[in-house]
Amino acid sequence: MSAGSLAGRVPEQFTLSKTASEIALEAGALLRGYFERGVATEYKGDVDLVTEADRASEKLIVERLSTAFPSHGIFGEEGARRGLDAEYRWYVDPLDGTTNFAHGFPVFCVSMGLERRPSCTAADADGELVAGVIYDPLRDELFTAEKGQGAWLNGRKLRVSRTDTLSEALLATGFPSRKRHVSPNIHFYHEFTLRSHGVRRAGSAALDLAYTACGRTDGFWEFHLNPWDTAAGALLVVEAGGTMSRFDGTPFQLNSNEVLATNGLLREELLSMFADLFAGRDLQPIPTPSEFGAERARRQS
Ligand code: IPD
Ligand code: CA
Ligand code: CA
Repeated sequence: MSAGSLAGRVPEQFTLSKTASEIALEAGALLRGYFERGVATEYKGDVDLVTEADRASEKLIVERLSTAFPSHGIFGEEGARRGLDAEYRWYVDPLDGTTNFAHGFPVFCVSMGLERRPSCTAADADGELVAGVIYDPLRDELFTAEKGQGAWLNGRKLRVSRTDTLSEALLATGFPSRKRHVSPNIHFYHEFTLRSHGVRRAGSAALDLAYTACGRTDGFWEFHLNPWDTAAGALLVVEAGGTMSRFDGTPFQLNSNEVLATNGLLREELLSMFADLFAGRDLQPIPTPSEFGAERARRQS
């Protein structure tokens, strides 16, 4: 298997994901070029960054998808809105991990998830996720899934981890780039960190989901993600034997605002932790900076 080529990486039976993989590899190569050259950063909001690379990648993906699947709709992070009444709809994150990308931190990907929305689907309801592709161009890792046919990484079938207790789990989370001051997630980060092997915050929600699907992490949660962040990764997790839900265990939806991915074995323990934390039960005290500062001064005197 040579870098950037599709040969041997996508199972024979995959059709939609195969075409999407070709497009993701091309978009990934484009991103790699920008990453090596460096790009200027603009602000969409508070610390919500965007670069020329995000736009160029979305343009390429939209052109290729429109040619390959002219009857499909497209919903892209950087503004693409096409055929939203179509039966099939692609959710496209042309560069997931823009903050990393802009700082030269080598963790980012392309994410493309396909939802089938039969004509009877209510406007505020989800259809079913049928295909997903996530491509990490720096590691040349291509994650693919199709509904009922499993999830794969570079030609190897994926299975979630077998960790069955939170105290031995490695988890991941992320923090929003909008309205950061109203996010409660630092409390959850703190509590889960104290009860597990640790919580990673790598900066790409799509890769976080792909990593739970392939067993590198045992679970992932985040508040306020968007459908382009989660559509492909959610299918990968489920097809690799994991679970997707909200924090109260109700079904995950693309507009959920809450995403909890688990390896299945940890689902109940994580849900019960969320219930406890939302109810203010069983919190682990840590010193405030001023308490710690006073104690530190006392020790140094
Ligand atoms: C962001 C990343 C990050 C997550 C943010 C997302 P972007 O996507 O997935 O990990 O914590 O919530 O907005 O802006 O890099 O495409
Ligand atoms: Ca994203
Ligand atoms: Ca993005």
